[in-house]
Amino acid sequence: MRKKLIAGNWKMNKSLSEAKVLMNEIKSAVSKEVASKVDVVVCPPFISLSAAAEIFVGSGIEFGAQNIHYKDDGAFTGEISASMLRDLGCEYVILGHSERRQYFHETNHLINFKVIKALEKGLTPILCVGETLEQREQGIEVKIVDEQVTMCLKDVCAMDMQRVVIAYEPVWAIGTGKTASPEQADGMHMEIRKSLENLYNATVAGSTRILYGGSMNDKNAKELLGKQNIDGGLIGGAALKADSLLKIIEAGL
Ligand code: PGA
Repeated sequence: MRKKLIAGNWKMNKSLSEAKVLMNEIKSAVSKEVASKVDVVVCPPFISLSAAAEIFVGSGIEFGAQNIHYKDDGAFTGEISASMLRDLGCEYVILGHSERRQYFHETNHLINFKVIKALEKGLTPILCVGETLEQREQGIEVKIVDEQVTMCLKDVCAMDMQRVVIAYEPVWAIGTGKTASPEQADGMHMEIRKSLENLYNATVAGSTRILYGGSMNDKNAKELLGKQNIDGGLIGGAALKADSLLKIIEAGL
C-alpha cells in the first residue's frame, strides 16, 4: 500500500517573514490526524528552512529543499549541500525540476549525481521527470520520460529505491493552468512503473510513490488522486495558500 504524499513546491516565493505566516497557517490547517494519514511536505526556499524546522516540529508535517549540490562541501559559491540540509532536520529534496533543467541547464547526468548524494546523506529525493509540449506533439513522451528515469536512477540500488519518490510533471502543465487529464497522468505513471520494473523488479515498480505535478489544485485534485497509479501531488501555485493546500490534502485521504 503506497501512502499518499502531498508536497508543496514554493519555488522562489515568500520572504522569511511571509513564509513564517504561511507555514503557521498550514500548521493550523493540517491536523496531526490528517498528517498521519497523508505525508505532507512543505518545500520553501532555503532561507526559510530553519524556520520550517521550528514551526513544524511535532506537527507531523515535514519539510524539504528544492535543490542540492552533488558534492559534500568545498569551493562551490552559492551552493548548499545535502548534509547541511540534514543537519537542519530536512527530510526531502526536490531534484531535477523542469525549471532547473530549463533555466540552469541541469542534465540527467547531473541530476543522477544529486540523487545519489541525497540518498547517501539520508534525504528523500523527489525526482522530477516530464516531457515538453514539443516532445508530446512528436509522440516521444514515453521515451523521454523513460530515459530521464533510467539516467537519473543510474547506480541507485533497489534497496535505496524504497526512499525515492518520483514526480511526473509534464512541462506543458506546469504553472500554465493546463492539467494533464487524469487518464493521461495515470497512463504515464503506468509507463514509469514499467521503466522501474525493467530497471529493478515488480516490487520496486509497485511500491515506488509516483506523484503528479502540473497545475494540480483543489478543483482537480480528487480526480487525479483517485487514479490507481497516482500517489500524490507536487503542487506549485496552489500550495501557496493554506486553504487550497488543505483541500488538496483532503482529496488524497
Ligand atoms: P504548478 O507547479 O502546480 O504551479 O503547476 C508544479 C511544480 O512545478 O512543481
